[in-house]
Amino acid sequence: MDIIEKIKNRALDLSVPIIRDGGAEILTALLRERRCAKILEIGTGVGYSGALMLSAAKNASLVTVEIDGVFAELARSFFREAGLEKRVRLIEGDATEAVLLMDGGFDFILLDGPKGQYERLRPYLVGLLNPGGIIFADNALFKGYVEDFYIRRKHRSIVKSLKAFIENMRNDARFRTTLSDAGDGILIAEYIKTE
Ligand SMILES: C[S@@+](CC[C@H](N)C(=O)[O-])C[C@H]1O[C@@H](n2cnc3c(N)ncnc32)[C@H](O)[C@@H]1O
Repeated sequence: MDIIEKIKNRALDLSVPIIRDGGAEILTALLRERRCAKILEIGTGVGYSGALMLSAAKNASLVTVEIDGVFAELARSFFREAGLEKRVRLIEGDATEAVLLMDGGFDFILLDGPKGQYERLRPYLVGLLNPGGIIFADNALFKGYVEDFYIRRKHRSIVKSLKAFIENMRNDARFRTTLSDAGDGILIAEYIKTE
C-alpha cells in the first residue's frame, strides 16, 4: 500500500472527513496541468489532501493550517513518512487568525476547513493569491444542503456562509468561477484579472 493510501485509510478509521474521490481527481488533474510553486491549504486533517497535492505538483511547497492538535501531529508524522516534510509548513492554529499573518504569493489555495468560515476567509484568501492562481473550495454544496429549499436550523449558519461565498465569488469580475457537484460540491475560482 502506498503512503497516500495509508493516510486515507487512517483518516477513514479516525472519521476525519477527507476530500472525496471525485473532488480529489479534479484537484490532482488541475495541479498536474498547472505550474504551482506555492500552495496554501486551509484544513490539513491528517494530511491526505496535502500529500495528494504535493504528489501531483512535484515542484510545489505547501503551507497548511490545522486547528486540531492531534490531527496536526498525525499529519506531521505522515508528511515525514512520505518524505515530504521539507516541502511542508504546517501551521497549527485557527485559519481565520493564521491568514492575517501570511505573506501571500500562493498559486493555488485549497479551502477545506471550517465550512461556516468560507465567506469570512474569502477576502483574505483572494489577497493571498497570485494573478492566474486558483481557489479550490471543497464541500461548497455541503451534502446538498446549500441547494435545499428547507434548511435545518443546525445547518443554517454554514449554509448561509457557503451561499454568500459562492455568490460573492461568482460576482467577483476578477475571477472565472465554476461550481460543480463533483464530490461534495467543488467551487473553482481562477484569478483571471487584477483590478
Ligand atoms: C474536511 S477536513 C480536512 C480534510 C483534508 N483537507 C483532506 O482532504 O485530507 C477539515 C479540517 O479543518 C479543520 N478545521 C476546522 N476549523 C478550522 C479552523 N478554524 N482553522 C483551521 N483548521 C480548521 C478540522 O479540524 C479538519 O481537520
